Amino acid sequence: MQRFIGLPVFLLILSIGILSGCAAGGAARKPGFKADGPTVFVTGANRGLGLEFTRQYAARGWNVIATARRPDESAELQALLAQYPQLAVEAMDVTVQADVERVALRFRDQPIDVLINNAGVWGNLDAQTFGQLDYDAYKWIYEVNAIGPLRVTEALLANVEASKQKKIIILGGGMGTRATVQQSPGGHYWYRMSRAANLISMAILQRETRRRGVIVGIISPGKVDTQMLKDSGWPDTFPRISAKDSAGFVIEQIALLTPEKGGELINYDGKIIGW
Ligand SMILES: NC(=O)c1ccc[n+]([C@@H]2O[C@H](COP(=O)([O-])OP(=O)(O)OC[C@H]3O[C@@H](n4cnc5c(N)ncnc54)[C@H](OP(=O)(O)O)[C@@H]3O)[C@@H](O)[C@H]2O)c1
Repeated sequence: MQRFIGLPVFLLILSIGILSGCAAGGAARKPGFKADGPTVFVTGANRGLGLEFTRQYAARGWNVIATARRPDESAELQALLAQYPQLAVEAMDVTVQADVERVALRFRDQPIDVLINNAGVWGNLDAQTFGQLDYDAYKWIYEVNAIGPLRVTEALLANVEASKQKKIIILGGGMGTRATVQQSPGGHYWYRMSRAANLISMAILQRETRRRGVIVGIISPGKVDTQMLKDSGWPDTFPRISAKDSAGFVIEQIALLTPEKGGELINYDGKIIGW
C-alpha cells in the first residue's frame, strides 16, 4: 500500500520540480547563446552608448543581454536582434525592482563577464539650478544614476562572480568629483550629486568584492554626441566624439581592466583620473 502512495507523491514532487525549474531557470540561456562565449549585460540599450555597446559586442561574437525600458520602440535594437542569434533583448527599467528581479531570474544560470551599468539621465537643467532647485526632480535622477546601478548589480552579482572576467562597469563619474567642480562653472546639482553617490557606492562594492576577483571599472566615455550631451546644455561648439568611437574606446579599456585598476576613474584613453 505504501508503495502505491509513494509513487504518485514522487511523481508530483518531480513535476513540481520540473515546472519550477522551467519558470525560474529553464529560460536562462537564449538558444543562440554560445555556451563557452563571453557574455555582456547592458542597461539602457535602446539608444546612445548602450545601443553602441550592444552593436559592437554582438559584432565581436559575444552573447549580449540588452535591456531597455521600451525595447520595442527602438528600431535599431530590433534590427540587431534580428541580425544576431546570440543577442537577447529584455524590457527593464533600472528603477523598478520587479523588472530587475524578473530579468535576473530569467538569466539566473547565465555567467555575465561584463555588466555595463549604462542607463542614466541628466534631468532638467532649471530643476537643478540653485535658487530654483526642484527637490522632487532629484529623487528621480538619483534613483536612475545612483540607485539603479546598485540595484542591477546586486541582482546580478552572482552571475558576474560565476563568469571568467568578473567585470562591473559604470560610465563616467567625473562630474561627481571635486576636481571637476573646481574646473567648471557651477550648477547641475542633481546630476553631480547622483554621480558622486554612484562613484562612492561602486568604490564600496569594489572593496567588498575584490577578494572574490570582481573588478569594478569606472570608465569615462568622454564628451559623447548623444541625447544626454544635449540635455546637459554643453554648447554645440564643444568638441565631442561619436557614440560609435566612444563605445569602441570604452570596450578597449574594459578589455584592459586589471584588478589594480578596480575602483579607479579611468578615461576612455586609458589615463587614470584622480577622484
Ligand atoms: N554622453 C556623454 O557625454 C556622457 C559622458 C559621461 C557619462 N555618460 C554616461 O553614459 C551613459 C549613457 O549615456 P548616453 O550618452 O548614451 O545618453 P542617452 O543617449 O541619453 O542614453 C541614456 C540611456 O539611459 C536609458 N535610461 C534612462 N532612464 C532609464 C531607466 N530608468 N531604466 C533603464 N534605462 C534608462 C535611456 O533609455 P530611454 O530612452 O528609455 O530614456 C537611454 O537608453 C549614462 O550613464 C551617462 O551618464 C555619458
